Amino acid sequence: MSFQTIEAKPIAGALGAEIEGVDLSKPLSNHQAEELHQAFLDHKVIFLRNQSLEPAQQVAAARLFGMPYEIPFVTPMDGYPEVIEITRERNDAGKHNFGGNWHSDMSFQAVPPKGSMLYTVEVPPYGGDTMWVSMEAAYAALSDGMKAMLDGMKVMHSGKRSYGSRGTYSNDSNQTGTMKVGADNSGDAEVAHPLVRTNPETGNKSLFINQVYAVRLADMTEDESKPILDTLIRHSLKPEFSCRFRWSPGTVAVWDNRCTMHYAISDYDGQRRVARRVTLAGETPV
Ligand code: SIN
Repeated sequence: MSFQTIEAKPIAGALGAEIEGVDLSKPLSNHQAEELHQAFLDHKVIFLRNQSLEPAQQVAAARLFGMPYEIPFVTPMDGYPEVIEITRERNDAGKHNFGGNWHSDMSFQAVPPKGSMLYTVEVPPYGGDTMWVSMEAAYAALSDGMKAMLDGMKVMHSGKRSYGSRGTYSNDSNQTGTMKVGADNSGDAEVAHPLVRTNPETGNKSLFINQVYAVRLADMTEDESKPILDTLIRHSLKPEFSCRFRWSPGTVAVWDNRCTMHYAISDYDGQRRVARRVTLAGETPV
């Protein structure tokens, strides 16, 4: 789609576009706000470089896309309950990288988030890129037989591998930078979501699974589910369904968690990276 008040330049075939002509620190006209939201829906992840946002301005900018909310387990920035600061210091080499597995943010919640907005404060001179895949493109490329088999199936999502009583963050040595990420037995809970999800704003279907939180198919064990989930994840990770973004300081990305997975690449040991994320409330998946 072409726009009148912004320019959207795709960075890959399946998803991702850089947006030009927007200063998120200032109020946008209704027309520009509508076009920006449409670009988010069309491209699934959009990037705006050369922004300068204090945390309160980031929360205000995030409201252009949805309702910011306070997520569980990650301690927010002082005074900004909807903002988490994702930090990794030079001396965090070898530690778990927050977001460093293919996931859709907080998909283990009964009402998982619509989207997320990340704003980079400091980026390493190389590395620290983030990748996304379009789960809509992945679904569309499945055979009719596979689509028919998956139709109506449910998947159990849980935070247990990250935030559960024995999850990654139950081990204090996995904390990085100034982040405080909690883990307890509330993270072990499971919730059922449809394996194929329809985006209420576009009407398009996507696979709604990911490597971290989609732990098993409903009514099956993890062992029984693994071959099917692994096959679908492997299919979804085809390079043709992906984009990769090289950050610069002061860049905003906004992605749709309903139809994408993303992966923060951990290849910058010895360097510092600081980014702030606001998460946007969603709807019950159907
Ligand atoms: C996240 O999963 O929200 C982190 C993404 C990133 O740091 O690039």
